Amino acid sequence: MSSYVKGLEGIVAAQTKMSYIDGAAGKLEYVGIPIGDLASNSTFEETVFLLWNSRLPTKAELEAFTKDLRASYALPKGMAERVKTVPTTAEPMHMLRTMVSALAMHDADPNANSVEAARAKSLKVLGCAPAIVAAYDRSRRGLDAIAPDASLGFSANFLYMLNGEKPTEAMTRAFDICMITHADHGLNNSTFAARVVISTLSDVYSALTAAIGSLRGPLHGGANEGVMKMLNEIPSVDKAEAYVMDMIARKERIMGFGHRVYKAKDPRAAELMTLAKQLAEDTGNMDLYTKSHKIEQVMEREYAAKGIYPNVDFYSATTYHCIGLKLDLFTPMFALSRIAGWSGHIIEQLADNRLFRPGAEYTGPHDAPYTPIDKR
Ligand code: SDX
Repeated sequence: MSSYVKGLEGIVAAQTKMSYIDGAAGKLEYVGIPIGDLASNSTFEETVFLLWNSRLPTKAELEAFTKDLRASYALPKGMAERVKTVPTTAEPMHMLRTMVSALAMHDADPNANSVEAARAKSLKVLGCAPAIVAAYDRSRRGLDAIAPDASLGFSANFLYMLNGEKPTEAMTRAFDICMITHADHGLNNSTFAARVVISTLSDVYSALTAAIGSLRGPLHGGANEGVMKMLNEIPSVDKAEAYVMDMIARKERIMGFGHRVYKAKDPRAAELMTLAKQLAEDTGNMDLYTKSHKIEQVMEREYAAKGIYPNVDFYSATTYHCIGLKLDLFTPMFALSRIAGWSGHIIEQLADNRLFRPGAEYTGPHDAPYTPIDKR
């Protein structure tokens, strides 16, 4: 047994062909392709194919994969009714975790975990999770669910089911860039959770449910909602510096900053900063962007020396707000995209599995006596 390493910091616990991260240089590649090139040129569908097949698709392969994904948009029979039973006060991440778990009960062979079966189940969850989120948000607004439109791509279809109208090209592209940049990221906490669960040869639904439970944590995917709450609390751009300095003085964590691996600016934050600026200009939300930029400058001055820079969650908050998403839907958006990465890791784990069973360093007593209860 190795010695105890808190939080497994620096421990390599898996091999993957999907994401390469150079934390010092602030580099991220999916199967060797820099994230910036994918954000500029790819689509979410093409990115999922890349992650799951270790190469970019031919035109014919992309058409076939897109057709299969669109065939997975529709909720299984009975799921729409199930979503309607969710209390309108439920937190969307609790709803999504519960509904993805429930999908297992609508699968004729839920426990099949051959690589092929895992891929098919992953495609189904990836395809219909947007309908679950959209149906829940409409239900809590007292609106009927809107059936998916298989003539639309992943991003356009989600926005259509959510808002009841076809999104603009610009909003569709912006959402797609968010999906591309959030799709996979090495052995982050939620991906590790998925691998740990599937390593017992449990099922894809249990593994994805565990991952969603992990992602909602504010130290992980939940940070994007924390960033938005912070931006909303800062009354104006000129108050941003004092606000952040007060948080630093109180030794509070600034959401959207810092990373276990990146000790430079998260390349996804750079991509989303550009997108956030454009969207903020287009939608009259420049105060959000200028507050964010000011916070980044203050944090650079105060914390760059400690290797604390913006991470993926910092500018995704402004981006999602400008796309018109409610604050408590930000982390579910992270989940919709990360189902691709989680599934890729589940498939990799099944292809070369070994049960995860690390040790624990015992720090209690030895050879202790059993004292009868009337003597305690
Ligand atoms: C994601 O792993 C992934 O790849 C995750 C992710 C993905 O794509 O899956 O990239 C997505 O989860 C991004 C991270 C989102 N979380 C946040 O933005 C929450 C705020 N950030 C932190 O809590 C923190 O930076 C973590 C949790 C992200 C990483 O923390 P570590 O590696 O455990 O570092 P640490 O807590 O040990 O901090 C080291 C020092 C501490 O100071 P000291 O006690 O040494 O004096 O840095 C400080 C921390 O207090 N610090 C911060 C800070 N983050 C770290 N101080 C102020 N604000 C922060 N945000």
